[in-house]
Amino acid sequence: MSILVTGGAGYIGSHTVIELQNAGEEVVVVDNLVNSSRESLRRVEKITGKPVKFYEADINDAAKLEEIFDREAVESVIHFAGLKAVGESVEKPLEYYMNNISGSLVLFNTMRKYNVKNIIFSSSATVYGNPSFVPITEECPKGKITNPYGKTKEMLEEILIDIQKADSEWNVILLRYFNPIGAHESGTMGENPRGIPNNLMPYITQVAVGKLKKLGVFGDDYDTPDGTCIRDYIHVVDLAAGHVKAVSKLRKKPGISVYNLGTGTGSSVLDVIKSFEAATGVKIPYEVKPRRAGDVPVCYCDAGKAARELGWKAQYDLKKMCEDSWRWQKNNPEGYVD
Ligand code: NAD
Ligand code: UFG
Repeated sequence: MSILVTGGAGYIGSHTVIELQNAGEEVVVVDNLVNSSRESLRRVEKITGKPVKFYEADINDAAKLEEIFDREAVESVIHFAGLKAVGESVEKPLEYYMNNISGSLVLFNTMRKYNVKNIIFSSSATVYGNPSFVPITEECPKGKITNPYGKTKEMLEEILIDIQKADSEWNVILLRYFNPIGAHESGTMGENPRGIPNNLMPYITQVAVGKLKKLGVFGDDYDTPDGTCIRDYIHVVDLAAGHVKAVSKLRKKPGISVYNLGTGTGSSVLDVIKSFEAATGVKIPYEVKPRRAGDVPVCYCDAGKAARELGWKAQYDLKKMCEDSWRWQKNNPEGYVD
């Protein structure tokens, strides 16, 4: 039986495929490559020494999904596929709802048709909005979400909860990721944003490699120790390992479960810059800019539930995240080249 990984050619998906294959799981990847490259999976194959079964397909394409479910013995699905740029989602809400919501509904419907009722869904700390307390536990009420991307995460969580409520044969694990950064330590795989990066770490590494001149720090007047926003950065390999643990949990038929995946440690933007400079010896010129709309001041998790129930805990610290991000960027200044 296989685990079908939608979006498996992407940043988190490809690292998860490595961990799944290393754990002896059979993996089938479905991705339309809208934000990724076929090359990422070739690199996975080099690392694991195992072929990756890959279907280039859009999850909105019901006929194609049925073909895949006809051919493969799918036990469960890890659903990464989706568009994820917050700013772009404000500009193109319909594209985001069509891709993320409609695409997911087609996927869930196909799963039901083939009696595959086990799913792990990539959710986000964004569902907490501006959290009503930190560290954020899974009991923290969901907050106001200001962009369509975040709303798709919140809606898909609710849709999966309703599906499971109506049919207890479904097992659903919602994983709320905090801020994934870092890269595979081989330096051959990592995050490969198209165009100018929106997120902090890819921006820093592109400044470090000379593709961008200077980092903008979005606001230094927040109510935090150094005035910059605090996030819970988590190494992508730790995050990937969390999915392997979630697959084991899914096999115990948990019904519905929700887990935060983060380290439990908050770091400010300036902490990340300093840590990157210390880990790599490369200076990051920066300039303080106005606050970015929609940023919450402080967001870090209580990772205790995942530790207790999944037996998972993040292993890597910020220094290692910076070292590995830098190794990837330095060795692959243009990212993956197909
Ligand atoms: P990514 O863009 O690298 O990966 C997503 C993959 O999905 C890409 O390979 C893309 O080509 C594919 N895809 C998109 N739409 C598709 C469709 N209709 N059909 C088939 N494939 C499609 O992003 P990522 O950082 O690896 O994120 C993976 C998941 O985790 C996403 O759902 C994202 O929203 C979620 N997430 C990411 C973060 C983060 O900071 N990276 C944080 C929280 C949650
Ligand atoms: N930042 C800068 N300069 C930059 C980029 C970011 O100062 O050029 C700051 C941001 O203002 C924020 C911090 O760095 O304070 C982290 O920003 P990211 O864009 O890297 O990450 P976010 O926390 O804003 O967003 C991430 C994911 C979203 C997800 C959100 C909440 O990218 O998909 O976490 O889970 F919705």
